[in-house]
Amino acid sequence: MKFFVDTADVDAIRELHALGMVDGVTTNPSLILKSGRDILEVTKEICSFVEGPVSAEVVALTADEMIAEGRKLAEIAPNIAVKVPLTWDGLKTCKVLSGEGKMVNVTLCFSANQALIAAKAGATFISPFIGRLDDINMDGMDLIADIRQIYDNYGFDTQILAASVRSANHVTQCALVGADVMTAPPAVIKALASHPLTDKGLEQFMKDWAKTGQKIL
Ligand code: G3P
Repeated sequence: MKFFVDTADVDAIRELHALGMVDGVTTNPSLILKSGRDILEVTKEICSFVEGPVSAEVVALTADEMIAEGRKLAEIAPNIAVKVPLTWDGLKTCKVLSGEGKMVNVTLCFSANQALIAAKAGATFISPFIGRLDDINMDGMDLIADIRQIYDNYGFDTQILAASVRSANHVTQCALVGADVMTAPPAVIKALASHPLTDKGLEQFMKDWAKTGQKIL
């Protein structure tokens, strides 16, 4: 499973990138707001060191305007994936931009049918939001599993990009049901290294080592 990092915080991306944890990046208007940066400038900076797909989202609501915005975003770098919302106009935009050879990430997906039509419109990535379904007492992971089965049934090559990932357990479940990619905030990715038994074991080793009176260096 590929790891994308869901942030426009360049320092956080660089830290994870140095460890080989960044197969790509996803951003959205809320994350651009949080960064306090200009969308074109920050996206260009991210693309200067991230080799994999970097999603940048359009903000227009009509297909003609979305297509124009998508073309402008795609000019930033060859690894831009234009992110469009799962609306009828977003699907029209997906069809046109994917026909031009651009990567397209169709976002705000909350149903298997939405994922099915995004694949038919030529989406490179479909972004089902797990956490936001969990928030309304539905099972976001069931949606990932349903999309996996549908795409496999018909050989769609649209990649399932599990989004709105909020916990380490979400990451495990995404890997078990076969998401192609998961995108998570830096804190969730860093939390994957944590285990209380690791902390407890290390504490004991340090206590015993101190008693030996030895040094390695
Ligand atoms: O990738 C989409 C993600 O940013 C949404 O996450 O936690 O706001 O639902 P969240």
